[in-house]
Amino acid sequence: MGESRALSRAEALQLAPPDWQHACHALLYAPCPGRLFGKFPLHFAALMQMRFDGRLGFPGGFVDPQDVSLEEGLNRELHEELGPGAASLHVAEDHYLSSHVPEGPRRVVTHFYAKQLTLEELRTLEDRATQAKEHGLEVMGLIRVPLYTLSDGVGGLPAFLSNTFIGNSREQLIHALDTLQLMPREQLQKAVTMTQKRP
Ligand code: GTP
Ligand code: MN
Ligand code: MN
Ligand code: MN
Ligand code: MN
Ligand code: MN
Repeated sequence: MGESRALSRAEALQLAPPDWQHACHALLYAPCPGRLFGKFPLHFAALMQMRFDGRLGFPGGFVDPQDVSLEEGLNRELHEELGPGAASLHVAEDHYLSSHVPEGPRRVVTHFYAKQLTLEELRTLEDRATQAKEHGLEVMGLIRVPLYTLSDGVGGLPAFLSNTFIGNSREQLIHALDTLQLMPREQLQKAVTMTQKRP
């Protein structure tokens, strides 16, 4: 965990194995009409997962030596972690968002992708996720991120952001919600400020 530094895809690709490991994770999301309790707009359905280590993160994982590209590694991991529903997913280079390296001594480059699905496609993934090879092993369950704040100002996204996240996945989530405009920016900023980590 701790801080991480952004770098371009080209810079990231120069950090070669076996000195460096590469990992790819993806945000899958879909427009989601409707309101919670008839009141709070849902905005989008955005998927994360509860990992084996009790932390939240995105589906994906290490790119292995036999994977011919970052995206092939990512799609293999998505299939292992999300099951047969991921077979038709094909996350590609167009869905690439960012690369980061940790500030510490750990030599892992993390690449992040985001792909918009239809709500029906996302629901099919959810329906079939328990058939994944890694269900109950690396992945304890898929979850949707609450993209709203309840009337108490804490429930919803602020409470969600107070969980423990793997690596820089919390920052990946916040950045994606902002750049992809998955919820009103002012609500997002308030939620982030409220859950800012204390020094
Ligand atoms: P194994 O097959 O057991 O090695 O797991 P995996 O290939 O699925 O790897 P994993 O998803 O755990 O990701 C590899 C590394 O990337 C982890 O050790 C974390 O440090 C980091 N990581 C995991 N999930 C995320 C994520 O959502 N975002 C970011 N930035 N890093 C992550
Ligand atoms: Mn109820
Ligand atoms: Mn995995
Ligand atoms: Mn994984
Ligand atoms: Mn793996
Ligand atoms: Mn594995």
